Amino acid sequence: MPADTQGPRDKVILAYSGGLDTSVMVPWIREKYNLDVVTFTVDLGQGEDIHKIKAKAMTTGAIDAVAIDARNLFVDCFVFPSLMAGAMYEGKYPLATALGRPLIAKLMVDAAREHGAKAVAHGCTGKGNDQVRFDVTFQTLAPDLRIIAPVREGKMSRPQALDYAAKHNIQVEATRESPYSIDQNLFGRSCESGLLEDPWDEPPTAAFAWTVDPTKAPDTPQYVTIDFEQGRPVGLDGKKMDGVPLIEALNKIGGAHAIGRIDHVENRLVGIKSRELYEAPGAIILHDAHRELETICLSKPAARFKTLVAQEYADIIYNGLWFSAFHQDLFAFVASSQRFVSGQVRLKLYKGHTIVVGRKSEYSLYNKHLATYDTADQFDHDAAKGFIRLWGLGQQTQAKLQLLKDGKGFDLPGLMGPKE
Ligand code: ARG
Repeated sequence: MPADTQGPRDKVILAYSGGLDTSVMVPWIREKYNLDVVTFTVDLGQGEDIHKIKAKAMTTGAIDAVAIDARNLFVDCFVFPSLMAGAMYEGKYPLATALGRPLIAKLMVDAAREHGAKAVAHGCTGKGNDQVRFDVTFQTLAPDLRIIAPVREGKMSRPQALDYAAKHNIQVEATRESPYSIDQNLFGRSCESGLLEDPWDEPPTAAFAWTVDPTKAPDTPQYVTIDFEQGRPVGLDGKKMDGVPLIEALNKIGGAHAIGRIDHVENRLVGIKSRELYEAPGAIILHDAHRELETICLSKPAARFKTLVAQEYADIIYNGLWFSAFHQDLFAFVASSQRFVSGQVRLKLYKGHTIVVGRKSEYSLYNKHLATYDTADQFDHDAAKGFIRLWGLGQQTQAKLQLLKDGKGFDLPGLMGPKE
């Protein structure tokens, strides 16, 4: 059908990275779906020039191209809350991509409203987590918008895309086409597929981009001091800094010391185990520092309970449920828990390790007079005796009435059972 000769078309907002797939998607969607394409590119600190990407979009036939710098919003409203929560997926992945997707989707919904678009589109495959994060956010915030995903719908394979690119004169930077699937933003870089698909194989040097190999890291350690206010990082080495430059600086310093390489066989939401390689120097330094500050600022039960919340929080982010009421509920707890998490943490960066060497806070619960073994000791030693009597009373009673009843002693084979 000669779509181009029909009247005004509906519009679609396309998440556009400027790479091969989404570039091909511009004329493709116009032709196959009969929609006018407005591309949408967000700077989350991936280190690419969004204005160049915007210009490229116009050459491929977009009717409009939007480029937004959302780095501050990303850090203040997505990255730092996850840091305050201690969210680390499966204890390893600081969630860079997972944090970026709901923000991109939300901004796309705003753009759809502004441009009167009826649909949103992305280049995700049907096997990954990103499609879930995009679509769940679209469905939640704008159920009326049609979602178009040409790759997932099986309508656009790689060879088809290359073919189409050649026919439509779309420049493909073949030299830049990597054997890996890469995604990056300020909080980390992920690398998957290609040579990494065998989880037994050591990742090749070429898979890394942000960090040096630990064997190439300097022999002299570097010290950094991070300042926190109510759980948010606010300074580096005594200098106040906004979140974006602070993370940029830590990525650089940490990368030079081989900090933040993560090799993770993770459980995807769609039921696949997948081997992922992450580089996240800033994220690792900040999580290590923040966790350490909490050791002196949180009470024992609060710290313990918070590890449960952290796990739940990481799952919410990973599984695309950022815009949920449950997330709001958990964040209310997290924000409250951070009221007294202010202070400094000092770390030594050395050959791939972050070694915490000091922590202090005006709200520190650490009391030297209680902890010390020297003459300044104020701990009430007499109180310990009565406390222990009551602490062990229940166990003592049970042992007497059940475990030691037959006079043979504490009977549980494998756990110091009775002598034969
Ligand atoms: N496995 C990570 C996640 O689910 C990284 C995904 C990276 N996305 C990509 N399209 N390469 O968050």
